[in-house]
Amino acid sequence: MYPRIIQKFDNLLVKAVNKYANVRWYNSPLTKKILASKEEYLKIWIEAKSNRYKLIDDFEDKYNDKIDDEWYHKLALHTQVVKKKSDIVYVHGRLLYVTLKKYILRNPANKNINIIETGTARGFSALCMAKALQDEDVEAKIITFDVLPHNVKMYWNCIDDNEGKKTRAELLEKYKDLIERYIIFHQGNTKIELPKIQTQRIHFAFLDSAHDYYYLMSEFLNIKDKQQKGDIIFFDDYTPKMFPSLVKAINEICEKYNYSKEIITISDARAYVIAEKL
Ligand SMILES: C[S@@+](CC[C@H](N)C(=O)[O-])C[C@H]1O[C@@H](n2cnc3c(N)ncnc32)[C@H](O)[C@@H]1O
Repeated sequence: MYPRIIQKFDNLLVKAVNKYANVRWYNSPLTKKILASKEEYLKIWIEAKSNRYKLIDDFEDKYNDKIDDEWYHKLALHTQVVKKKSDIVYVHGRLLYVTLKKYILRNPANKNINIIETGTARGFSALCMAKALQDEDVEAKIITFDVLPHNVKMYWNCIDDNEGKKTRAELLEKYKDLIERYIIFHQGNTKIELPKIQTQRIHFAFLDSAHDYYYLMSEFLNIKDKQQKGDIIFFDDYTPKMFPSLVKAINEICEKYNYSKEIITISDARAYVIAEKL
């Protein structure tokens, strides 16, 4: 599944790339210039907010729970609303919130919940999970990984760019209490950084970094022995047309390592898998 020779070569390659990557990641990698005015970002936001997703509504109804709408859209304005060709869809925040809340309520004996996220980006998904933790008032830590640094000023392709370059910490300033209580931002390539994490148990994971087979597999292999029955992995982008190798990895993980697979498909471009360890 993951031949040793490829793994060895890949690790060497990742180390070499990593050495030079910092130059790249520290120099506004997302965009070198402001891509839209405040008004344009607001227009995209208003349009995104107005879209309805029946499957997501049904999911929330099924569990009789949902994230605070106003809080969620406000966060999305700064962390999801970007200038790009494809539609802006950020319903994974709603699904993550309900799924994590459900996990907490079903497992009251778990007093300190460890969550791993790969792919922080601007912090949207980590904050949606933190909101679930806060609303249940549980002790927990989300360790979130990204090659992007947390304390380097850059343009993020978001409305805030119109106020000048910001660090992620500055972008998320309004959420600093929530962050302080729950989130640890860890910079670096997951292939190098995930194996360093010493937690014995990973109750819940959201895997959303590099969208290919080998990266996802390598992330999963660092997590699998730390999960127990009922623990969760949430996968983004289960979209065969767009990310076939990611879909292959998710299928393999669920089948070979005994996870249930709840697929939520809202379009050819947007689909999610909630996998529970059996
Ligand atoms: C799709 S975005 C994550 C979106 C975020 N989870 C959210 O919901 O807002 C993917 C992120 O993964 C990061 N990334 C990609 N490959 C990575 C890797 N191998 N290690 C760490 N971060 C990676 C990218 O820099 C990017 O910010």
